[in-house]
Amino acid sequence: MLETLTIRTQRTTASRLQHLDPEHIEFGKIFSDHMFAVDYHDGEWQTPQIVPYGDMAVSPANSALHYGQAIFEGMKAYKNADGHIALFRPTDNLQRLNASAERMCMPPVPEELFMQGLSQLIRLDAAWVPNTPGSALYIRPFMFATDGFIGVRPSESYRFMIFTCPVGLYYNKPLRVRFEDKYVRSAEGGAGFAKNAGNYGAAMYPTKLAQQEGYNQLIWTDSSEHRYVEESGTMNAIFIIDGKVVTPALSTSILDGITRRSVLQLARDWGLTVEERKVSATEIMAAQAAGTLQEAFGVGTAATLAPISVIGYQGHDYELPTPGSDSFSQRMSAALSDIRTGAAPDSHGWMVEI
Ligand code: COI
Repeated sequence: MLETLTIRTQRTTASRLQHLDPEHIEFGKIFSDHMFAVDYHDGEWQTPQIVPYGDMAVSPANSALHYGQAIFEGMKAYKNADGHIALFRPTDNLQRLNASAERMCMPPVPEELFMQGLSQLIRLDAAWVPNTPGSALYIRPFMFATDGFIGVRPSESYRFMIFTCPVGLYYNKPLRVRFEDKYVRSAEGGAGFAKNAGNYGAAMYPTKLAQQEGYNQLIWTDSSEHRYVEESGTMNAIFIIDGKVVTPALSTSILDGITRRSVLQLARDWGLTVEERKVSATEIMAAQAAGTLQEAFGVGTAATLAPISVIGYQGHDYELPTPGSDSFSQRMSAALSDIRTGAAPDSHGWMVEI
């Protein structure tokens, strides 16, 4: 089927584009006109479709709803000054989607299905890709179990879908975060490296507690000692300590972020020392006390690069310097944005025009 990939397409007769105000886009609230969907059953992917975005019927007994057999990706498309649209590192997202799929006993999505689904969907909804500074089309590929069966075993049927939404900034001001020393996001050997739905659902309660204390997000720590940094909220955490770029090394409990990977690559290109290793909360706080913690920030697809202004540790809040225009985080945000919008050369071949 995939050699001659035909996507059955039903166009909307009632575009909602006029409801989009490109100057005031709130993250994740308004969805583009169409969505892509393809079912998997009897051991193969069936005919893919693009249909108007909307609700759909699923079995109430599917194991995505009951046992969390659901995975997703977050990626973005950008419009350059000539109006061309390009995806940022899409095959990296596909590889991670398929790593998540393996962990959750789901079938891999073939590259052609993923790439053609993405490109045909985004071409159809090209008018939804914003081009105001800091904006992008956020893309949400996801897969979930569809068997109508309540026993605990991997489903035999699945649906893979993609929908998109124009987005602006995820966070509009620097973050107040605190080290988490009771709850964990994931343990070694768990599924923290995968982008499965349950990782995010289980993080909501500890995050809500931190928000009630006035923080925006948590810095997750390891499950055995609460000593080493894992991630920051739904992002990877990066620190600039004494001119070096320091970040937790990847493990089975840390998501292999594509923004993380890109930031580390550009930092190396700039000749900076990059250390991927264990980073303890005490090291961060000692650097803060000594004045060598120059910057701290989270990186992820939705947020891109979110500076941290306050770190809570053992009941006290510690302020970080505000990053100036020559700071690593501001220079890195600008460098990534320039590559994505075609204003700077794409020397690593990250952009895929559609
Ligand atoms: C992303 O950055 O794409 C994420 O997955 C974070 C969040 C929106 C779930």
